[in-house]
Amino acid sequence: MKQRGVTALGREPDLSAAWTDEHIKTVFDHFANQIDNQIQNQLVSELMVRYAAVSKQLEIKNRQLARSDASRREAQVIALLGNWELDLQTKKFWWSDTMQEILEIEENHKESDLQAYFRKVHPDDLAANIRIAEDLFKGVVPAEFRHRLIMAGGRIKWVHIRYVLSYDAQGNPLAVRGTIQDITGPKETEEKLRKYNDHLEELVREKVVEISASQMATIYALVKLAESRDDDTGEHIGRTSEYCRLVASKLWQQEMYPDKINASFIENIAKASPLHDIGKVGIPDSILLKPGRLMPEEFEIMKNHTLIGYETLAGVEKEYKMNAFIKTGMDIALCHHEKWDGSGYPNSLKGEEIPIAARIMALADVYDALRSKRVYKESYSHEKSVGIVKQGRGSHFDPFLVDVFLENEQAFRRIFDNSLKQ
Ligand SMILES: [Fe+2]
Repeated sequence: MKQRGVTALGREPDLSAAWTDEHIKTVFDHFANQIDNQIQNQLVSELMVRYAAVSKQLEIKNRQLARSDASRREAQVIALLGNWELDLQTKKFWWSDTMQEILEIEENHKESDLQAYFRKVHPDDLAANIRIAEDLFKGVVPAEFRHRLIMAGGRIKWVHIRYVLSYDAQGNPLAVRGTIQDITGPKETEEKLRKYNDHLEELVREKVVEISASQMATIYALVKLAESRDDDTGEHIGRTSEYCRLVASKLWQQEMYPDKINASFIENIAKASPLHDIGKVGIPDSILLKPGRLMPEEFEIMKNHTLIGYETLAGVEKEYKMNAFIKTGMDIALCHHEKWDGSGYPNSLKGEEIPIAARIMALADVYDALRSKRVYKESYSHEKSVGIVKQGRGSHFDPFLVDVFLENEQAFRRIFDNSLKQ
């Protein structure tokens, strides 16, 4: 008799037994169970395969995540960078462990909180920090902010904070996220550089003032020496320098001749104006010191002081090419007797052919000469002098400069009168 096997599904049915209804049901149940189990086994194996694949993927993803988290942390540590977030709905403040390290707050400090942060802020920067925090709660963020923290032992740490505001779908402020970076190192370098630069600038400024003062003293001494031969005094050169500075400054303020007049032009004309009659050193005493009017041939010789002055300065200019001060001096020396209508000397230049510095000088020189006593005339009053300058508008003088003069004639008067009091 065939040995009937025992399977996992129980005893196999005896197929030789009588096929009663009950036996038929047993045989069918047995086969049905066999089929169910096969399907179940297939499903389980398939599930196990799929689970293994998913587990593997999950493990890879976790590994990647851990790696990127570690990299982020490593990068943040290297960059001395932390990050933080303020939830505007819950008012909760969160900071990263790297931010906690920057703040040098102990690890057992359970919660990130603004008060703990404020305790680290330098007292001088606290008010600004509180103001920013109040704004943050209203959803107002600055682009960035730098301030000091105060660490154990009073050590100063500089931090740079950046802010980004995020919104919900309706456009309402949701949270403020940001970074905090320890910038103490760069800040110290920056501070050292700033101090170094300040020191250098101070040294340069001192030197410039020193050189400028000594140059001016030399120029004044030479000009006074030259002018001591006629009846001009040192006051004339001092005053004409002031008039020139005044007119040039007004033109600058009114943006007239913007391509020619700037801050350095004002400085140059004020300093170079004493050179206008430097050529008088080459004029004989018999002409320069002659009381009364000059004869025509004497006047021709007198006119040469413009050329002598120009050539003297041109000789200097060869040594100091492109020196704006010398160039202004050359323009003034050569052209301060030119007239707007072309009737002046030595080159009968007309209108804007005459350099602007010389046009200013002409007006300043004439006003001062009118106010001064000369061997051939008494001093004129301010009003009379103003009238004469006004008459020369468009003939002797640049009409625009006469307008500026008339607007500032009281300042001219003060410059002249004050020089008499000294
Ligand atoms: Fe002159």
